Amino acid sequence: MEQTFLMVKPDGVQRGLVGEIVRRFERKGLKLVAAKLLQVSREQAEKHYEEHYGKDFYDRLIQFITSGPVFAMVWEGDRAIALTRAMIGKTDALEAAPGTIRSDFAVHTNLNLIHGSDSPESAAREIANYFAQDEIVSYEKTV
Ligand code: CMP
Repeated sequence: MEQTFLMVKPDGVQRGLVGEIVRRFERKGLKLVAAKLLQVSREQAEKHYEEHYGKDFYDRLIQFITSGPVFAMVWEGDRAIALTRAMIGKTDALEAAPGTIRSDFAVHTNLNLIHGSDSPESAAREIANYFAQDEIVSYEKTV
């Protein structure tokens, strides 16, 4: 069983796509174990994007992710990281496969609606950056 961190970015929240995005993961059969609307702090943003530090788009990333509320979530399930990344689609909306979130709703690489962890290590780091351990709910999914 795997956990992944997913975050509807400020553009997704402002476009009213939180429900649509959550619905897709619910219908897939993944289990939601934590969720909240929050304003990302500068410190959280720097931790979140530390692998991009020094790149030409880094400042834009930090500015954008702190520009308005995001909807942060933890989802659980077998192969949850790979499954959710497949459902999200490639970073560039032009390369995202039809039917993915970015193909269906995004135009730009900068405004690509949602972030998803790319490895178990990133997931653990990202979950800890946004959630306290007691905010993650443990329960059995019976249906
Ligand atoms: P995400 O995969 O969530 O995290 C890194 C983000 O950097 C990516 O989404 C894009 O929104 C953003 N980005 C902006 N410019 C680029 C670029 N040239 N290459 C990759 N990512 C970029």
